[in-house]
Amino acid sequence: MVDPDEGATGPLPASLLPLTAETTDDGRLRVGGVDLCELAAEVGTPAFVYDEAHLRARCREARAAWGDGTAYATKAFLCRAMAGLAHGEGLSLDVSTGGELHVALAAGVPAARLVLHGNNKSDAEIEAALVGGVGRIVVDSFDELDRLQRHVRRLGVGPVDVLLRVTPGVEAHTHEYVRTGQDDSKFGFGLASGVADEAVARARALEAAGVVRLVGAHAHIGSQIFLLDSFRAEVEAMAAWFVPLGLDELCVGGGLGVPYVAGEEAPSITEWAACVRSACNDAGIPGHVRLTAEPGRSIVATAGITLYRVGTIKHLPGIRTYMSVDGGMSDNPRPVLYGSGYEAFLPRATTARRPMVATVVGKHCESGDVLVRDACLPADTAVDDILAMPVTGAYGYSMASNYNKVPRPPVVFVADGRARVVVRRETFDDLLHLDA
Ligand code: LLP
Repeated sequence: MVDPDEGATGPLPASLLPLTAETTDDGRLRVGGVDLCELAAEVGTPAFVYDEAHLRARCREARAAWGDGTAYATKAFLCRAMAGLAHGEGLSLDVSTGGELHVALAAGVPAARLVLHGNNKSDAEIEAALVGGVGRIVVDSFDELDRLQRHVRRLGVGPVDVLLRVTPGVEAHTHEYVRTGQDDSKFGFGLASGVADEAVARARALEAAGVVRLVGAHAHIGSQIFLLDSFRAEVEAMAAWFVPLGLDELCVGGGLGVPYVAGEEAPSITEWAACVRSACNDAGIPGHVRLTAEPGRSIVATAGITLYRVGTIKHLPGIRTYMSVDGGMSDNPRPVLYGSGYEAFLPRATTARRPMVATVVGKHCESGDVLVRDACLPADTAVDDILAMPVTGAYGYSMASNYNKVPRPPVVFVADGRARVVVRRETFDDLLHLDA
């Protein structure tokens, strides 16, 4: 935590750094035994760096807290290395598009360990899931049930295990763009309206016809949620509907928040699971029901750091200081999309006080291209410094774009003193690859 005497200008709180972060006597940051300034010199900037031990620790924590069937939500960050790591640590994988399904399979994850999501699964996606033999499909609409019926019959495959996605009518405390449990939602079957009951009836009929096996229910109330009470409310809202159905599995989705800036605190994955378990118990959900979850952000966010290079600093007298780095909204659109806050620091002076206030901006052609508004930085921050933003492991690389034809950064895993590029930097030629 920040020493209150230091106020906002204190050093970066160590709690925002990955598990293996250590600061050398001269203030340089090492993660996974790798000096991040040296790494930046080697692989260039911008670059996403992940602490592999941190990723593994969070996967293990999720597996231990929730048990078998718990899925890593790949939308938060996916490449072959990440898929393989999560699978290797005993998690299933939640994939929500044909693309995520393809990458997970390409990583060698057995289809049986995949859960297919999506509010508008195409025929091709459903066919790929059925042919591949995915473990579960989370059904989101009546049209999807129709499609499943058609394709199961056409392909002559056996009944597929499904969960029904329900919107429980819970408004989680988070940004409205990432809130999904309220009645007015494009996702799932509404509980309040009775549509969820109709979905159960339809699924049961398809079960009798050998098309599906209805194994459980699913809900996801949103993302970046700090208050465990929101998850308790989710369970309470579902219990009266769920218990009489006699289903075997209840998945409460993902959504656990993580601290991004000094002063924020979030429950651990273990605390989250314990809260949901006790809520289920209190709500009369039988002990034999398998409780599962789909954490994304809480697995990968704090494991990741983005390294940039400072290119220019402009002091606008009486207005503000702009510090431009060599990435921006193309590698991290979250500040622009959600007004998300981040910290910035210098990995050459990790524990330095940060009295200089500057707005860290990217290199894109619009004023909205802000990474950190009023960031606190060391007083001697200068052009050519490596500037780091912590907690960028979730929904940064996965939402990255090529806006302004800026190539996407590489992803580097660090562990045991070694750095390994798991996704290479895009080249200018890559930017031409799709042109006909
Ligand atoms: N399960 C389902 C069905 C989901 O839709 C999501 C996230 C998750 C699990 C994982 O949620 P997590 O544990 O990561 O919160 N782009 C936004 C976040 C969107 C989340 C979408 N669904 C952001 O950058 O904050």
